[in-house]
Amino acid sequence: MSEKVYPVPAEWENRAFINDAKYKELYAKSVSDPEAFWAEHGKRIDWIKPFTKVKHTSFDPHNVSIKWFEDGTTNVSLNCVDRHLATRGDQVAIIWEGDNPDDSKKITYKQLHEEVSRFANVLKAKGVAKGDTVTIYLPMIPEAAYAMLACARVGAVHSIVFGGFSPDSLAGRIEGCKSKVVITADEGLRGGRKVPLKANADAAIAKTGDIVKTQIVVKRTGGKVAWSEGRDVWWHEETAKVSADCPPTEMNAEDPLFILYTSGSTGAPKGVVHCTGGYLVYAAMTHQYVFDYHDGDIYWCTADVGWVTGHSYIVYGPLANGATTLMFEGIPNYPSISRFWDVVDKHGVNIFYTAPTAIRSLMGAGEEPVKKTSRKTLRLLGSVGEPINPEAWEWYHRVVGEDRCPIVDTWWQTETGGILITPLPGATKLKPGSATRPFFGVQPQVVDANGGVIEGPCEGNLVIADSWPGQMRTVYGDHERFQQTYFSTYPGKYFTGDGCRRDADGFYWITGRVDDVINVSGHRMGTAEVESALVAHPAVSEAAVVGYPHDLKGQGIYAYVTVMEGIEPTEELRKELVAWVRKEIGPIASPDVVQFAPGLPKTRSGKIMRRILRKIAENEFGSLGDTSTLADPTVVDDLIANRGG
Ligand code: WTA
Repeated sequence: MSEKVYPVPAEWENRAFINDAKYKELYAKSVSDPEAFWAEHGKRIDWIKPFTKVKHTSFDPHNVSIKWFEDGTTNVSLNCVDRHLATRGDQVAIIWEGDNPDDSKKITYKQLHEEVSRFANVLKAKGVAKGDTVTIYLPMIPEAAYAMLACARVGAVHSIVFGGFSPDSLAGRIEGCKSKVVITADEGLRGGRKVPLKANADAAIAKTGDIVKTQIVVKRTGGKVAWSEGRDVWWHEETAKVSADCPPTEMNAEDPLFILYTSGSTGAPKGVVHCTGGYLVYAAMTHQYVFDYHDGDIYWCTADVGWVTGHSYIVYGPLANGATTLMFEGIPNYPSISRFWDVVDKHGVNIFYTAPTAIRSLMGAGEEPVKKTSRKTLRLLGSVGEPINPEAWEWYHRVVGEDRCPIVDTWWQTETGGILITPLPGATKLKPGSATRPFFGVQPQVVDANGGVIEGPCEGNLVIADSWPGQMRTVYGDHERFQQTYFSTYPGKYFTGDGCRRDADGFYWITGRVDDVINVSGHRMGTAEVESALVAHPAVSEAAVVGYPHDLKGQGIYAYVTVMEGIEPTEELRKELVAWVRKEIGPIASPDVVQFAPGLPKTRSGKIMRRILRKIAENEFGSLGDTSTLADPTVVDDLIANRGG
């Protein structure tokens, strides 16, 4: 842990919306009188029918109910597009930077309005109505934002599936929310390589029976694709047929905006549901204050729209604020390891938001590829997705930001909709590795194993004591699972699944997941998902998966596999199993280590002792703890002797 402190630079105290005094004043108000605070800030978006009720929430584990601005009506696309037309119609809304540096374009708010309206009419023509779900499986192209906003415009609920997920994963998510319509592209393009999105989507749709009636395909590369007449249509042909006029549908604040599937400790990924009003207020407000976004700033978040960061901080937050948001199709090291900084210089980026895993991998290539670029427009840096180690933080600050740019280390989750713990650049001194203080309205608490709230400097599990507007409302189709997963461990509080430390300044240091979720390069993966993919292989009898510290990825995936009687645990089989998991879930789930184990450490009642597996994967044999309760303690010796990696 680093003890270094970086004070707020003087020019930031002056220019920022929020300085330290203002933070303290607003934070105090936000928690002492949330009704009044959010009544005021709820007005930052345009309402069709203004709300009169503000907060109506209960964390009672048997009756969780979260409603914000519940009698107000609005439409998200109205707020992200139409309301800017009068004041900034000709301002650039989206700068799109293609995988190939010669490929880029700028879309103004006026153009965005036309694109979104047209595509909304296409959705209507395909029978999509308010409340229907639409699955989006697109690369990082402007059509992804158009499709999201068009769904919002007609009141449809989108479910975006990251383009790196396999046909099986996509099929599960299409089935999960019964999407009649799937939107994809012929192929994606990443680092000069083609990704067969349409072929994957075809394979997924084939597994889902007759759920999908229409597949809308964007022509991105022009590569050859199979075609199912009657089901498949081209985006450009359909949008040419319809009018560019499509009034936004009036939505209740609590009508769902999107579903996003995310991994949990157990079972299949769950559909996190976010709704219209509270989510947008929270995404927009955090975007403005955390990034201190001022009119005219060029803002770039490098996430993919397939993850929540892309939803809240590439599309909804920035566009609700009338910002210029950059959308990047490519990867950090193509065509060269300077790509990020080349893009910063090309478009004059002022605010840059990325993940620690990207920083660590760029750090490995040294300072020269950064230093040969100018980066003089950069003013603020951000980090998200996993704990940032102080070395990476210092490098980001010194080399990328030339000691001039504050770093906002933003902690949040798919479930939280927006940033919950973060520095504000004009208000908060920085400590490398600490997400620092709660955003307005957020009440973090640290609890011990028995659920007792700990005061002062301490370490424990992180819970949030009361609701904030951006909070998820339910698990799609399974409210019981929502209550069980988040509100039953520490009854009456939202359990984050993260551990943390709080220091003498009241700053929070997120230490990582305390459940069976692993965070691989900032991507969430459930150990249970990887295990069920492994045991689906005919050679595997049993599998247990844990996370372990990985220099670049933050955490790597360590799989212990017991093979079926009579099967030889060969090197070839090891490779086959890695490829198998890639195919079943997607490349992000590829195990880094597969260790063949004749037996797994189990209690006499048959429960796998993951604690021991974690320790072995972490190379910490000295602290295995009590193994005498194991059904067969000798398996541990074998596991240690044959440790992989
Ligand atoms: C982790 C991504 C430390 C954390 C927005 C959380 C972080 C999980 C940080 C959510 C951070 C995210 N510092 N850890 N700044 N940001 N995490 O749902 O473990 O993909 O629970 O949301 O990422 O991942 P998710």
